[in-house]
Amino acid sequence: MLQLQKLSLTQFKNYDWQQWLFNERIVAICGPNGSGKTNLLDALYYLCFTKSYFSRQDALLVQRGKQGLRIEGNFLKDDNKNDIVCVIRENNKKEFSLNGEEYKRFSEHIGKFPCVMIAPDDVELITGASEERRKFIDTILSQCNAIYLQQLIDYNKIMQQRNSLLKAAAEHQRLDDALLDILDEQLTGLGQSIYDQRSIFLQQLIPLSIEAYHSIAQKEDGLSINYDSQLHNRSLKELLKENRQRDLYLQRTSCGVHKDDLEIQMHGQAFKSIASQGQRKSLLFAMKLAEFELLKQQKGFPPILLLDDVFEKLDATRMHHLLEKVCKKKDAQVFITDTHRERLEKALTELKVHFQLITLDN
Ligand SMILES: Nc1ncnc2c1ncn2[C@@H]1O[C@H](COP(=O)(O)OP(=O)(O)OP(=O)(O)O)[C@@H](O)[C@H]1O
Ligand SMILES: [Mg+2]
Repeated sequence: MLQLQKLSLTQFKNYDWQQWLFNERIVAICGPNGSGKTNLLDALYYLCFTKSYFSRQDALLVQRGKQGLRIEGNFLKDDNKNDIVCVIRENNKKEFSLNGEEYKRFSEHIGKFPCVMIAPDDVELITGASEERRKFIDTILSQCNAIYLQQLIDYNKIMQQRNSLLKAAAEHQRLDDALLDILDEQLTGLGQSIYDQRSIFLQQLIPLSIEAYHSIAQKEDGLSINYDSQLHNRSLKELLKENRQRDLYLQRTSCGVHKDDLEIQMHGQAFKSIASQGQRKSLLFAMKLAEFELLKQQKGFPPILLLDDVFEKLDATRMHHLLEKVCKKKDAQVFITDTHRERLEKALTELKVHFQLITLDN
């Protein structure tokens, strides 16, 4: 069991200083637009991932007009207390520590406190560019496997070096063949391993996603999901070799696992072009619930679930199925936000679950 018991925020976004104690498994957070509901969830996410779910720049998290911030969370994990602290100093230096011990590499923290966020704009996972789906896959795999995360970091680093070399070759009209060969070899080893791990992982994730979709929608909708990769038919070694001239012309690496995608279809057509908004949303939830299930299997305890504004766009029946699945049939700690206090209270009361209600009003 993983449970956040206390969260303290100092100079984090709209919070000057604020502290909450959480004493129920289900925490309902209500308040008008702009009152800090999403910010609260993001602070919690930050403690699990050493970064914000929404913003790439830490500087944007510091309260306007202030310098530095502090986020502290007390987690209970298998009956052990864990204290996670993130401090961003006045000079923007970031420190991250677990039980008083500071991390040298933030990536070492990933996966220890698994958590799944579902936010309104996440529908991009279905409708957006392939990068969104790779990010989704990578976030889960990285939490399950530290080696995967390191390989991914290295792959991206080497690819950047390769791209710089391709640019330099175009500028100087001269190519360092030997160096390119070395980079290709390194990229091949990493890329091939990433591909293998994604393949195995998606054989689990895809059927779970489809199953979850059916149970939320109560319909089949002709849904199919497939792993799409250039590495299905050729090795990365061959791909890099065959496309070297093209890469030199383009001045970037045109083949590899950084082009992977999920092909999502409805009755054989692109899902994003024909599915309704509610259907897209349902698939989004389904994929996130599959993520939750896989993390739970892998960790042996359920991740924390963060549901931001999930009431929007879903009809009452689908909403009920989802909440029942999430709050009743699972044993995870759940944080759920809504602008309408009555609606959220009513839905949770109907489910007959114990919950804590937090009302924000600033
Ligand atoms: N760096 C910052 N400093 C101060 N305030 C900030 C900062 N970043 C964001 N805010 C404020 O936080 C508020 C938004 O908070 P948040 O997104 O959590 O609201 P919310 O309760 O989720 O609202 P909604 O119901 O619209 O989703 C805005 O008023 C915004 O101005
Ligand atoms: Mg919000």
